[in-house]
Order: sequence, then C-alpha cells, then structure tokens
Amino acid sequence: MKIIKLKTNEEVTKYLAELLLQQIESNPKSVLGLATGSTPTLAYHQLVKKYLVDQTDFSQVITFNLDEYIGIEPENKNSYRSFMNENLFNYININQENTFLPSTDDQNYAKYDDLIKEYGGIDLQILGIGENGHIGFNEPGTKESTLTHKVTLAENTRENNSIFFDSLEDVPKEAVTMGITSILNAKKIILAATKSNKAEIIKRLINNDISENLPASFLKKHPNVIILVDEDSGKYIEEMI
Ligand code: PGA
Repeated sequence: MKIIKLKTNEEVTKYLAELLLQQIESNPKSVLGLATGSTPTLAYHQLVKKYLVDQTDFSQVITFNLDEYIGIEPENKNSYRSFMNENLFNYININQENTFLPSTDDQNYAKYDDLIKEYGGIDLQILGIGENGHIGFNEPGTKESTLTHKVTLAENTRENNSIFFDSLEDVPKEAVTMGITSILNAKKIILAATKSNKAEIIKRLINNDISENLPASFLKKHPNVIILVDEDSGKYIEEMI
C-alpha cells in the first residue's frame, strides 16, 4: 500500500479528483468503481467543475457503485442512486444507462459481479473507510471470499450515516454491497480518509495484520492500492511510498 499524506480535506479531494481525471484521460471508456459518503463528495464536485469549465468528456465512462440501501426506493433522496445523481451524474455528460448500483430487488446479488466482468472489470475503485474499518458495507466479520451480497448494517454505521436522514430510525438496517473479492478484483484502488474521526482506524489499518475484524486490511493483498489521508486522519502515521 502506498500512503499519501496531504494537509487538508480539500487537498485530498482535489487529489482524488485528479486521479479520476487522469484515469478517464488515459482511457475515455474507463470503468470506475464509485463510493458514496461525505469523503468523496467534494471530489465529485471537482469533476462537475472540470466538465463545465474544460468540457471533460464522460460520455463513454462506465460506473459501478459499491453499495445501496435495502428498503428505500431509488427515487428517495436518501438512496445512493439519488446521492450519485445529485452529486455527479446529473451534472456531467455521462450516459445514465452506464451508471450501475447493486440491485436490491433481485436476490441473486452476485449477478452484479458478472455485470462488472462483462464490462471488463473495474479500472479504478474509489473507497472510503468506516470508523469500524468497513469498506463498502463490508462490516467487521466479512469473509475475504465475498462477492456482492446482502448485509445487516453495524449500529455504528447507522449512527454515522444518520446525519443524512431525519432520524436514526429512518436509516435502513440492511443494504447490498460489493464484497471483499469484488473490491479486490479492481485493477487499482484508492482509499481516501479525512478528518480526525478516521485517525484511529487508519492507524490500525497500517499497523495491524490482515483480519476479518478489519475488512479494509484485505487491501494489503492487492498490488496497487493508494491510501490518501489528510493531517487529521493521518496524524498517527507516516507517509510511506
Ligand atoms: P464517509 O463514509 O465518507 O461518510 O466518512 C465512509 C464509509 O463509511 O465508508
């Protein structure tokens, strides 16, 4: 894992946007693995800016999101489909038919992995990290062998995500997420973490061995991973390249 430590949240999100743009420039038909949450939001807004100012072309880009809640309709403002539309897809020239999220209707969840394979696999996967070490919604205890599957959300995850909802009771208890193997199948992976509430888990990720208790630690098995931190989330670690 290569660790890049920048000063601020803004610098991390600009860097993340830059890596996404480089990927699209090197291959306009790139397959991107995208994440929701507060960490990548500003990076998505940077992409919108690049589209508006420099006419960056997203028309051939394919995207696969990591996860989606069960029990709320795609049209609901709290669905991850709405999040992606509102923060990125509605404001760039991407073909909406090429933007995929895991289906919550069809119980054959791993069909999503087949679809990703049909498009040639994910070229660049973006990840955040939960305070408990989850990636996607792969909570502690998730096996390395998992493909896209249904999960019960950890209480800590529901509490953290309740900032987007009117109340904690409104946060769904279940979701569908790409699994650990689905994520490790990506050719390149960037995990971004900002703010001090992520400092402890970033320290554990860097210092601890691979374990199901810390799902992000499986990234140590992948040959091409960048961990992007700011001074707050990276306060206990040194940059390592
Ligand atoms: P956040 O979520 O970007 O909102 O901190 C990250 C995650 O839970 O994976």
